Amino acid sequence: MAFDQRFLDELTARSDIVDIVGRYVSLARRGAEYWGCCPFHSEKTPSFHVRPDQQMYYCFGCKKGGGVINFVMEIENLSYPDAVHFLAKLANLPVPEDNGDDGASHLRARLLSLNRDAAHFFYDQLHSPKGEEAMAYLQSRRITRRNATNFGLGAAGDEWDGLLNAMMQKGYTRAELVASGLAINGKNGGAFDKFRNRLIFPIIDVRGDVLGFGGRIIRKDDPGAKYMNTPETVVYSKRRVLYGLNLAKKSKRKGILLVEGNIDVVMLHQAGFDNACASMGTALTQEQLHLLSRYTKDLILCYDNDDAGKIATQKALALLNDTDFNVRVLELPKRLVDGQYIKQDADDFIKFQGADAFENLLSGSGSGMDFRMAQLSGQFDLGTDRGRIDYAAAAVELLSTIPNAVEREIYTVRAAEAAGISADSLKREVARLAGQKRRKENRQEAKNELRVVSNRQPKDRSLRYSNTESALAEQTIISLLMYDDSIFGGTPPLEEADFSSPLLGRFFTALWAQRQSSGKIDINALNAQFSSNEISHLIAITQDAKLQNNREKMLEDCVRIVREAVRKRNIASGNEDILLSTMKKYAKDNTKEIQGGSAHGE
Ligand code: UTP
Ligand code: MN
Repeated sequence: MAFDQRFLDELTARSDIVDIVGRYVSLARRGAEYWGCCPFHSEKTPSFHVRPDQQMYYCFGCKKGGGVINFVMEIENLSYPDAVHFLAKLANLPVPEDNGDDGASHLRARLLSLNRDAAHFFYDQLHSPKGEEAMAYLQSRRITRRNATNFGLGAAGDEWDGLLNAMMQKGYTRAELVASGLAINGKNGGAFDKFRNRLIFPIIDVRGDVLGFGGRIIRKDDPGAKYMNTPETVVYSKRRVLYGLNLAKKSKRKGILLVEGNIDVVMLHQAGFDNACASMGTALTQEQLHLLSRYTKDLILCYDNDDAGKIATQKALALLNDTDFNVRVLELPKRLVDGQYIKQDADDFIKFQGADAFENLLSGSGSGMDFRMAQLSGQFDLGTDRGRIDYAAAAVELLSTIPNAVEREIYTVRAAEAAGISADSLKREVARLAGQKRRKENRQEAKNELRVVSNRQPKDRSLRYSNTESALAEQTIISLLMYDDSIFGGTPPLEEADFSSPLLGRFFTALWAQRQSSGKIDINALNAQFSSNEISHLIAITQDAKLQNNREKMLEDCVRIVREAVRKRNIASGNEDILLSTMKKYAKDNTKEIQGGSAHGE
């Protein structure tokens, strides 16, 4: 294990789960528990709760659960070691040097350091003769030197191994360069730079770490893709970053402005809109919203005004509909060139119309619903009866999703005006559908709360139970061990191999080992050995277990069921002598003899 157990104990003792969860979720006390709306899925009535006595959380809706470290891993998108460091910082506790055997966190640290050095290298290149072309390109895009430095922009020269050689000289290995995505293995056994002859945009996260890079071609005739980005690596995941958020989060402007491209971000900041960041050409993700929610409740979408941009806006609005964000859409007008209207993005608009014009668009930007309603009415011919009828039906569908009643009414009246029909009839239809939806939602949430999950299969397919009857008994044994280990003796009633579910077997072994070594069970100590999904499953099992009063009897029954399943498995597989397996069970001290027996079978 990478962290010292005494340190972890101290850390979890100082990181009260109610305090930590309370930083993200508003919790209300109900008896011995705290309840709130789950931060991991969207819901309107709370099914998420925290139990201070057990220092754990669990959501009956989405089934996520765990201890305080797990919570931080999930909500901050952090690895186990990073979550430990995160909590240690909050608790003002120094993290003892880990003993370096944690390969994953070591590689992570190496790649972050490599990325930082590479960013410096690219920056220096831009300001050297090798970067002249890139510098000229920046000028042609009207990006000032000062702003280029603000974003740490750099240049990759026109050579195959400029970065590679420089980084190897600094002591990074070729394997690390490939793992970072900065170098690519060639066919002849050599490697070469991924970014060549490009303007480089370091992608920096909110903590200031360089996670990866984007690179734009600088020659018009370059046959490569216009932009190239770091592939998914140990430190970079495109779903989880927003270009420029490291700077935008410090802005004094209200809300965050979301655009499509890197250059849009750079130009907007230069023009004074320093709250801009970009999803870099991909659809907005749940992970990015999560990140944004830490800084603001107000989002302004400002995507390109072509069809792709409109579709991206629609998608983002659909994603945002169930969230607490206030969303506005800044629609850029098309630009008239030689009698034709052509697309423009934020960068073009600033360049041709200026910052003041952009400021006007910003203050006049409509709500997300305005945008969706306008898009909708554009799809129908409101000059015909058929068109109006179809429009009304589609509008009712959309209007009924507006959660706020006042807002719903305002938009309904507007839609009725657009369609030239009476507001009253449209309102009635919207109210009817909204009521239907609400009732359905309530039913669903009630169902989620009531659903007995004890017979639920693990979410992760690879963990599915092969023998449900045995697995149910195994679940109960684990629940008993977690909540009332007094009924267990000094030796475990089962071995790991007896469990029909390998996951449940591993849980049992780990919990048993904890009980033996520290006399108590601590879910926070499981994070090093189990994934978040696995821990959620453990919590789901134990939260839903119905433990009867006669627990000794319950344990006995369950152990019997599991042993019976073991017996049947052995008969079915036919390769182990039944007598031998029984001996193994009941004559533990005679290990020598048993080993001799199985060797015989070979
Ligand atoms: P755009 O094609 O809209 O480019 O892509 P842009 O931002 O206007 O770029 P300029 O002004 O021509 O320099 C939007 C974003 O999509 C990503 C980039 O992050 C880009 O900024 N993208 C685009 C890629 O990742 N790969 C590509 O080949 C193109
Ligand atoms: Mn552009």
